[in-house]
Amino acid sequence: MKEMLIAEDVAAHRRPDRDVLPLFLNRWSPRSFTEESVDPAALEACFEAARWAPSSSNEQPWRFLYARTEEDRRLFASCLVEFNQLWAGKAPVLVAVCARTRFAESGEPNRHSAFDTGAAWVLLALEATRRGLYAHAMAGFDEARAREILRIPADHDILCFVALGHAGRPEALPERMRKSETPRGRRPAAEFVTEGAFPKG
Ligand SMILES: Cc1cc2nc3c(=O)[nH]c(=O)nc-3n(C[C@H](O)[C@H](O)[C@H](O)COP(=O)(O)O)c2cc1C
Repeated sequence: MKEMLIAEDVAAHRRPDRDVLPLFLNRWSPRSFTEESVDPAALEACFEAARWAPSSSNEQPWRFLYARTEEDRRLFASCLVEFNQLWAGKAPVLVAVCARTRFAESGEPNRHSAFDTGAAWVLLALEATRRGLYAHAMAGFDEARAREILRIPADHDILCFVALGHAGRPEALPERMRKSETPRGRRPAAEFVTEGAFPKG
């Protein structure tokens, strides 16, 4: 497979301090999505990538519900806060990312279900990027409504919604969202990496 380069529009905003996979930089969260549908095989591949995430005791606590028909997308979108509905309502695929909070066999609480499901979501997003798609996570949703409408059982947390599709033009967004429609930078690693114990003071 051809080696991926850092995309031109990304390179203007993101310069890694060390040599890392361009895929990590090319993944970003646009809000403008075109109406182009997502190839079902590509969507399956995104979930396949999520499947291979590591998890505590290989429990694989993640659960993805997705919407791609008009009817389902309207239902999923209705769980989002208004701001997110404004842009994510156009995305051809919406996903609800859930995690089973108890181990299937023992019924004991699984303290790491969110951590593991976060890993699965990132693999999904990276596979999407590799395929020219974009995945944008959203914490802005109505938990109670989503639980009821999407029939999420009590032993599952609803962690996030995700919009998935092809990136559109910033001009297609409502005015106030246009300026932030660029890949974002990051703090330097030195600010969050420490050798040894947590710094004093
Ligand atoms: C858990 C989570 C929740 C987020 N919630 C929202 C959201 O509700 N609405 C939104 O527009 N973006 C949301 N985002 C997108 C973040 O703002 C974005 O990932 C962050 O600014 C870094 O930018 P990048 O993903 O383009 O690298 C969320 C991202 C994550 C990981």
